[in-house]
Amino acid sequence: MMKQNFLYEVKTPSSAPSAREFSILIASRSADALTQLKSALSLMPVGVKINCRLISNGHSDPLHGLEKLPDLLIFRVGECWQAELESLCARPVESRVPMLVVSADAQAQAMRLSMKAGARDFFPEPLEDGELLRVVDQLYRESKDQQSTLNTHLTVVMNAKGGSGASLIATNLAHQLASDGQRKVVLVDLDLQFGSLSHYLDLNPQRGIKQALENVEDLDSLALDGYLARHVSGLKVLSAESDRLLLSDEVSSEQLLQLFRLLAKDHQHLVVDLPRQIDLITTTVLEQADQVVLTLQQGITYLRDATRLIEVMRRDLDIPDHRILVVVNRYDKSSPITLAEVAKALKHQPILTVPNDFKHVSESLNNGMPLLEIARRAPISRALHGLSEEIVGGKGKTSSGLLGKLFHLVKGD
Ligand SMILES: Nc1ncnc2c1ncn2[C@@H]1O[C@H](COP(=O)(O)OP(=O)(O)OP(=O)(O)O)[C@@H](O)[C@H]1O
Ligand SMILES: [Mg+2]
Repeated sequence: MMKQNFLYEVKTPSSAPSAREFSILIASRSADALTQLKSALSLMPVGVKINCRLISNGHSDPLHGLEKLPDLLIFRVGECWQAELESLCARPVESRVPMLVVSADAQAQAMRLSMKAGARDFFPEPLEDGELLRVVDQLYRESKDQQSTLNTHLTVVMNAKGGSGASLIATNLAHQLASDGQRKVVLVDLDLQFGSLSHYLDLNPQRGIKQALENVEDLDSLALDGYLARHVSGLKVLSAESDRLLLSDEVSSEQLLQLFRLLAKDHQHLVVDLPRQIDLITTTVLEQADQVVLTLQQGITYLRDATRLIEVMRRDLDIPDHRILVVVNRYDKSSPITLAEVAKALKHQPILTVPNDFKHVSESLNNGMPLLEIARRAPISRALHGLSEEIVGGKGKTSSGLLGKLFHLVKGD
């Protein structure tokens, strides 16, 4: 009788009601490889269910006999990679699933066959730190985006303590992103009580987010455009200024998501200035975010509050560390609180910095002009440019993909 493959669950999904879970199957003939790959993915959110399959019978097909196909297959091929990959090539296209291949053997032939079998990426061993996690997280987010149809890039800026500089950074970051003209960007002020972003850009919005939220059921993306203020750079702003305070319990998370979905139809990037509080509104936005920029300054109370906030993000909101960007604003290298100390307290690195620049920041606020227009070459503008580059993918962070790897291998780089 044929031996059964060994299928075991690594992580139990949260019992909290959530969107449909994302299932990953890691399959290999090597138990050690399964353990290593499983631990490489230990930082995935709880909504992700990971199963391991130790292949120990005559079948090479890692999906053989499964009742339900996973959303993603991570296939670690061994010495018999040819037979293993060919078994997947033999599958009808409709019964294949998105796949990543991990292999001890990085020769071009193995990569070619992986591509033929439909692999999205190929990882030669040893794996680089965090490399697999980044790609898996990206695929997970793509699948979540498809479900929630929030198909845009969402960056959230939040301060760890009042006055850290979140609004200044959100505004100038959004302006930098919009200024290269490559993408349509909206800056959203979610500080529904004390929002004041339009001062940074000298805008005088007639309507804003509060009115948009009240009417969201009746809006389409064209009508919503009438609620956005326009800056000469092309940046649009959904402002929170108005005579009326809006309390967070007056807004449902479904209303907010509906508004974001409408914005996402016409814009490739949303930058949100989020007030420092954890409620239904802020958690809804944080959960959807591609990146969370957490701002603080060098001070004991900033450090203490930032440590608590980053813990809440990790533990309660399941935001993996690689989606969090920590920015020390008004950075002073002679401060007794060094970057190494910030990294240690927050258990996070790297730490990005934005310098203190009273002169240009005051000028920017007094004239309602973004920093790029006031002082393009000033260190503060450069630092914000660096942050915007980090946000849109950075250099060397994204995987070059299977085709790129194959190309390098053939070229012998
Ligand atoms: N790098 C900097 N150099 C000089 N001044 C700065 C810098 N960053 C922020 N400021 C100033 O510090 C003040 C607070 O900044 P900002 O309003 O952006 O903080 P915030 O974190 O959004 O605060 P709030 O808790 O009120 O929302 C503002 O007057 C701003 O212009
Ligand atoms: Mg603010």
